[in-house]
Amino acid sequence: MKTDNTNQKTIDNSNSDIKSAIHTNLDNKDMKSSNNELVFDVRGLKTYFPIYEGTFKKKKVNDVKAVDNVTFTVKRGETIGVVGESGCGKTTLGRSIMRLEEPTGGEVLYNLHGTMTDITKFNKDQLFDFRKEVQMVFQDPYSALNPMRKIYDSFAEPLKAHGVNSKEDLEMIMEDRLRRVNLRPEFIYRYPHEFSGGQRQRLCIARALSVSPEVVILDEPVSALDVSIQAQVINLLQDIQKELDLTYVFIAHDLSVVEYISDRIIVMYLGHILEYADSVELNRKPAHPYTEALLSAVPIPEVGRESKRIVLEGDVPSPIHKPSGCPFHNRCPKYIGEICEQKVPEFKDLGNGHFVACHLYQGK
Ligand SMILES: Nc1ncnc2c1ncn2[C@@H]1O[C@H](COP(=O)(O)OP(=O)(O)O)[C@@H](O)[C@H]1O
Ligand SMILES: [Mg+2]
Repeated sequence: MKTDNTNQKTIDNSNSDIKSAIHTNLDNKDMKSSNNELVFDVRGLKTYFPIYEGTFKKKKVNDVKAVDNVTFTVKRGETIGVVGESGCGKTTLGRSIMRLEEPTGGEVLYNLHGTMTDITKFNKDQLFDFRKEVQMVFQDPYSALNPMRKIYDSFAEPLKAHGVNSKEDLEMIMEDRLRRVNLRPEFIYRYPHEFSGGQRQRLCIARALSVSPEVVILDEPVSALDVSIQAQVINLLQDIQKELDLTYVFIAHDLSVVEYISDRIIVMYLGHILEYADSVELNRKPAHPYTEALLSAVPIPEVGRESKRIVLEGDVPSPIHKPSGCPFHNRCPKYIGEICEQKVPEFKDLGNGHFVACHLYQGK
């Protein structure tokens, strides 16, 4: 655990130990090198999974609309948080912008060598470069490392694919990456079962860093870890980001982690983005009733947020049979009438890059 207390923040809630140990962006935002250069420009992205029926599963009967008409940007050097309850499409979104999932519609433009290029139209060379520049760390560090192979072999694969072949070079890079995640270099000759969950996730982070990426998509990187080590891993990720000038897309299922480390936050629900804003703005002035409910679970006296918990009724509906109109209307504590059921709200710009899709704001 880090002993630097200068930018820690005490937060009054049940998990205060972890959260007070996370170094916050609310305090040290200016230190980050975020600028306005775009890394990703995602426009109207849809990723649907078809559902087939019939004896030979030939008849398509419906779609799981995992990501449905999602538009956002990622800027160089920032951490963009993506939050939403389980099943709302966060992993599919991450996989779609990595080109691990084929989008059903829309565009994912990536800044490849200074030109915004559609990732689905990459040629072989462009895809090769993209795979080096954009890496992903997955939620479960237990299944991410092959139990039959030494760490060395798991690391060597992506490095060899990117042209690093000599044993000396491979070892030099691996040892450097292990040091960066505070693990001993000789660990490369061990097997995954010799490590704890936190160590395994640090190994996965080191492996993602091995090819010197520019963007890392972190899919709930601490959700599978013991609460006691979550803050360590998050602080480590923040230190690495500063050292290596990385851009992060940080996916989480609740706001309590991302709100402190993100520059901007996207709030997702049933495959849709309901709100996105600068993290300080979202913290202080959440606009969407869903964001208000998520935030009410993490009250913070310092920013004057009320501690009254908003408990949402019911579960997230199925992404196969989404509610009409606003996808949140059947659970919304601020439902205003038929319009919520009939019309999908458009994104309203509230200023300062704060956008919300809710009928409460459509006339304003
Ligand atoms: N390969 C797949 N085939 C069919 N449905 C999928 C597939 N992957 C995800 N889904 C569905 O898409 C929805 C979004 O899933 P996911 O992106 O994993 O959400 P999250 O990461 O927010 O929990 C869920 O309903 C899930 O069951
Ligand atoms: Mg997920």
